[in-house]
Amino acid sequence: MLESSHQNLAMVTCTAPVNIAVVKYWGKRNEDLILPINSSLSVTLHQEQLKTTTTIACSRSFQQDRIWLNGKEEDISCPRLQSCLQEIRRLARKRRNTGDPTSDISVVSHKVHICSVNNFPTAAGLASSAAGYACLVYTLSQLFGVEGELSTVARQGSGSACRSLYGGFVQWKMGERSDGKDSIAEQVESESYWPELRVLILVVSAEQKSVGSTSGMHTSVETSQLLKYRADVVVPCRMVEMIRVIRQRDFPAFGELTMKDSNQFHATCLDTYPPIFYLNNVSHRIISLVHRYNQFYGETRVAYTFDAGPNAVIYTLQEHVPEFVQVVRHFFPSEANGSEFVRGLPVCSADLSEEL
Ligand code: ADP
Ligand code: DP6
Ligand code: CO
Repeated sequence: MLESSHQNLAMVTCTAPVNIAVVKYWGKRNEDLILPINSSLSVTLHQEQLKTTTTIACSRSFQQDRIWLNGKEEDISCPRLQSCLQEIRRLARKRRNTGDPTSDISVVSHKVHICSVNNFPTAAGLASSAAGYACLVYTLSQLFGVEGELSTVARQGSGSACRSLYGGFVQWKMGERSDGKDSIAEQVESESYWPELRVLILVVSAEQKSVGSTSGMHTSVETSQLLKYRADVVVPCRMVEMIRVIRQRDFPAFGELTMKDSNQFHATCLDTYPPIFYLNNVSHRIISLVHRYNQFYGETRVAYTFDAGPNAVIYTLQEHVPEFVQVVRHFFPSEANGSEFVRGLPVCSADLSEEL
């Protein structure tokens, strides 16, 4: 695809991490601009096991924009891809018009070839859209020399993607404006703020989910009264609380809020009509195991959260990782199927600030 024989070929490769929300985003007030009905907060997982790598080349000789995702060509006319491409090109032209002498504008008018690979299951509830669109927007910005606030651009690819542009603990403020200019991501604390915090990913199924996040949340907004209550009443208070407990590094409070928020999100999926089931029996067994484990010690040592899929993300402190991994291995012996993503096997236990 990326042949060096092309004239004026410029090429950039970047990686972007996934982020896993502890206060979930679910529901849009504007579907075109991707403006949410509530603010959300996530932890960015800076590690090797779950990331997107995107290479973008541009050349005068390319006839059209094209994209390959995990080796397969996808339709570039997808409106979300178009929003990101148009926005970055607009910002690049704006930079030229303001006379920035360092901007190399010749490339902006060239077509791009995008090649993006996720090293983890795509569309399985492990935030591939977040890492994918954050990586797309960041790589385009590097290629076209665009600087500054990019979260409003990544947001227009996939809402959760705006949070993957920052490390550590990140909030996406829902904003109030109808043009979305104040619907941005902001770092709450950096990745080094809480060094003992660890993440385990328990891959229950690498299969593509049957209801994608976009269509699932659309139906929830249309039909769930519980979602409206959650967005209007629960989340505003929970955001304040969550930021407070993170700043205090209070794991029991952080863990309890995280689990309650995951449970309420899945309750809104059940309250959607027709209902959406993202969790399966193994997910339910993981939830029970975590509660039994915490009850045994009489404190919250481990917390689960599930995005729109059956796979569990476990937050805990470093000191509890070895024992909890043993417990998981005991109850969920891994299936030797040759895959790196095996049922019940924690595929990563990562320091949030691990270098890429
Ligand atoms: P997930 O839970 O994995 O985020 P979603 O339903 O939210 O699942 O989004 C999956 C979609 O995100 C994919 O079908 C694809 O359109 C898009 N996507 C995933 N990875 C990438 C990528 N690396 N580059 C561009 N788009 C991507
Ligand atoms: C459950 O960001 O994937 O992971 O904006 O339609 O692309 P679109 O949806 P997406 O939804 C993520 C939902 C979630 C919760 C979260 O990440 O906050
Ligand atoms: Co997604």
